[in-house]
Amino acid sequence: MKTLEKEIVHSILPHGGRLINRVLEGEQRQNALDRIERMERIYLNNREISDLEMIAVGAFSPLEGFMGREDYESVIYRMRLANGLPWTIPITLSVSKEKADTLKIGEEVALYSQTEVPVGILHLQEKYTYDKEIEAKHVFLTTELKHPGVAYLYEMKEILLGGRITLLNRINYDYYDKYRLDPKETRYLFRYKGWHRVVAFQTRNPIHRAHEYIQKCALETVDGLLIHPLVGETKGDDIPAEIRMKCYLALIENYYPKDRVLLAVFPAAMRYAGPREAIFHALVRKNYGCTHFIVGRDHAGVGNYYGTYDAQKIFSRFGKDEIGITPVFFDHTFYCRRCGHMASEKTCVHSDEHRVILSGTKVREMLRAGEMLPDEFTRREVSKILIEAYRETK
Ligand code: ADX
Repeated sequence: MKTLEKEIVHSILPHGGRLINRVLEGEQRQNALDRIERMERIYLNNREISDLEMIAVGAFSPLEGFMGREDYESVIYRMRLANGLPWTIPITLSVSKEKADTLKIGEEVALYSQTEVPVGILHLQEKYTYDKEIEAKHVFLTTELKHPGVAYLYEMKEILLGGRITLLNRINYDYYDKYRLDPKETRYLFRYKGWHRVVAFQTRNPIHRAHEYIQKCALETVDGLLIHPLVGETKGDDIPAEIRMKCYLALIENYYPKDRVLLAVFPAAMRYAGPREAIFHALVRKNYGCTHFIVGRDHAGVGNYYGTYDAQKIFSRFGKDEIGITPVFFDHTFYCRRCGHMASEKTCVHSDEHRVILSGTKVREMLRAGEMLPDEFTRREVSKILIEAYRETK
């Protein structure tokens, strides 16, 4: 055990060099719970609870809390924290002006879930105003309310609170708790399995053949694959995480080498910030101990806000060593009937009529009508689960 822990220190370093741990346990936690009744209270929404947890378990290392103004502005304008480390997404906590006026700098603020569970404490260091339009333009490259990330931002309250946090309780989710592994746990597991090179795959969708293909291509060159579906908040028409989990399990059961694949959930909220979110997704997977990160077509994109490969191009704006984790880029992939296998523009010479490419709208239409998707597009086990899910929502 001792040796193993020592060895872990030598695996890929977390962003900023140290895995943050802001989870209170034992006596410290009990003391905090005893004090919490006397503190001013803030009720967090699902995104904020997820951010709190991600910070606390080190997934968002080096962040130790919600961003103060200096970090916030530096992230918006420079895509870096104030200390220069790359960081592309603001992690903030907002309250109304009236609420902010009741909170004192230097004091502890109780963080509660909407269901009255005390989830953590904010050690309030700063209160500041911010400009939503500037944030939207820089982070999402649009101010259109149709963009789900912008819509969320414009719903936020007018004052941001900065300060370190501590976590007291985690919200439980029946369908994924078994697959919730913190960065320290995935790091331990990779070491235990002897995986030195691990590629992470981010997804907010069921795994279609294109996803499977790029995962397996990447896996050919490394020791292990972390399938790391995002299970925090997503937009309304994305397939719920609960159903996606069934699809991932069915696929792994039937088509993946179990000794080379790990399924664990990524309980962060989706921002739909395309290129900026690709950098963020990569940095965070480094914190989980992965050495490689897959970035395919329109990563973390929505609608037509970002160019197909913008999420790949953005990596060239940072030094390799600054990012630390190696991005693995894939072109748009599809099944080609003439080739008789999965391919991309890079490897297939045939025209569109031979390629099995379906739009999201078409896929939804077929599933709603109870039609199986073509095998070349989605494995039958997954089609079946999705058809069933659509039937139940009718
Ligand atoms: S995302 O918002 O999590 O990026 P999605 O789950 O669709 O959405 O994609 C997961 C990963 O697979 C992303 O890196 C994305 O770029 C990549 N990807 C999705 N579909 C394809 C495809 N047909 N060809 C290549 N890469 C793809």
